[in-house]
Amino acid sequence: MSEWHRVASEADLSLEAPLGVRVGDVQIAVVKLEDGIYAINDVCTHEFALLSEGFCEEGKLECPLHQACFDVRTGKVLNEPAEVDVATYPVKVENGAVFVQVP
Ligand code: FES
Repeated sequence: MSEWHRVASEADLSLEAPLGVRVGDVQIAVVKLEDGIYAINDVCTHEFALLSEGFCEEGKLECPLHQACFDVRTGKVLNEPAEVDVATYPVKVENGAVFVQVP
């Protein structure tokens, strides 16, 4: 069953500055965009690199290792060398706290 986990305060998040968090065994990149806060799996699907250490611009998060790009809103891979999308997780904000639902 999926559970909600508090991962950050809304005040901790700056626009398009990814925050890497860990929930159990799952690494998650939490990213604030102009239209909301999103959470995607933090591990690049190409090789091992944390996307939260990459660069985000206009909702696109670039892997720091070989520059594959992922859509923060959908998890879709936008360019090679990655070929597989990353998982996305539901996000909610309550009283200034950010929660992510992780399976
Ligand atoms: S590890 Fe992310 S593009 Fe290679």
